[in-house]
Amino acid sequence: MRSLDYIGTGCCAGSANAKNDYTTMLGKHQLSSEKTELDRVSHWENVYSTKQTTEVSWFEAEPTTSLNVLDQLLPQGGRIIDVGGGASFLVDRLVEKGNWDVTVLDIASTAIKHTRKRLGEVAGDVHWICEDITETKQLMKYEVWHDRAVFHFLTNPIDRQAYLDRLNESLIGGGYVLVATFAPDGPEKCSGLPVCRYSVDELANLLGKEFKLSTNSQLVHLTPTGKIQQFTLAVFQKV
Ligand SMILES: C[S@@+](CC[C@H](N)C(=O)[O-])C[C@H]1O[C@@H](n2cnc3c(N)ncnc32)[C@H](O)[C@@H]1O
Repeated sequence: MRSLDYIGTGCCAGSANAKNDYTTMLGKHQLSSEKTELDRVSHWENVYSTKQTTEVSWFEAEPTTSLNVLDQLLPQGGRIIDVGGGASFLVDRLVEKGNWDVTVLDIASTAIKHTRKRLGEVAGDVHWICEDITETKQLMKYEVWHDRAVFHFLTNPIDRQAYLDRLNESLIGGGYVLVATFAPDGPEKCSGLPVCRYSVDELANLLGKEFKLSTNSQLVHLTPTGKIQQFTLAVFQKV
């Protein structure tokens, strides 16, 4: 897990403290990055090794919202990456549609194993990347970048910037980023880890002027144990 040292006041990239956090914590981050990276991997491997994929709080039986948004944006399909796809059924549904070239990236090899097994033979039609999104060098060019409940785990500005750099490099002009994070009134933690919660304006500020807001909504997710979680869903188009 990330050291609590990295969690700025308010834990929000849109805060005025973000830049200062970055400057003062850079040295510390470099010293401990190897350890924290290992911690992050082992956290997620442990989650997917010890829990059923249907019992994790973020489980959704059908990725209906994402599919509806994608149908509206790109009915013809295209190349998409599901960042931190975990054991989500999004890949199953996109492969079934037949007009999507799908990449699933996740830090946890166990999650990828679960999903590949479930897909069976058609898993061969999907590109799989088992890496940290803040470090990967394996990205291609995509028409859509999909992230449900991953970006909000990046609680230090260095990781957020690394994520945004990868997004900028790999999303084509005119492409879309669909991001769902906990909303300002959402939970402060997920899977035992602290998260940053975002409004749509905070997400827009982080992404910068190169990304134009296409659509957004507040979502409510019901966890398998019946808890309600408020999400911000935002779709931006790269100018
Ligand atoms: C809350 S789960 C969401 C899973 C999936 N997006 C869904 O909607 O079901 C977060 C996922 O992101 C992955 N993850 C967390 N940090 C990551 C990182 N830095 N790079 C890549 N994947 C990461 C975890 O392994 C996990 O599968």
